[in-house]
Amino acid sequence: VSKLEVDLASIPEGKNAVFKWREKPLFIRHRTDAEVDSVASVSLEELRDPETDQDRVKDPKFLVLLGICTHLGCVPISHAGEYGGYYCPCHGSHYDASGRIRKGPAPLNLEVPPYSISDSGVLVVG
Ligand code: FES
Repeated sequence: VSKLEVDLASIPEGKNAVFKWREKPLFIRHRTDAEVDSVASVSLEELRDPETDQDRVKDPKFLVLLGICTHLGCVPISHAGEYGGYYCPCHGSHYDASGRIRKGPAPLNLEVPPYSISDSGVLVVG
């Protein structure tokens, strides 16, 4: 199946839900207000791969990512690492709660796949 449909109401706040899309791990994270505020306050000069959080989400409460480290492709662990987002245990890359690379060998932010959110709160990836 090339499309994945997820009812966002099924993901509790604070949880990083893991799905599979096109044989790849896909994360949907229902962020807390504290996480939303913390990633919004980071200035672009601090970032290796500069992108605002706003440009990476459609609804600030939900972060959608491919769960594939941009270094050599391991699956990062959520709610871990020095920036509270994701930590890749393979070689120690730290991502923030916007999936942006903050420390370690990975060159790029975690990839945001194409998706849409319907008025009824169903997210469709692909
Ligand atoms: Fe993630 Fe190397 S694969 S740090």
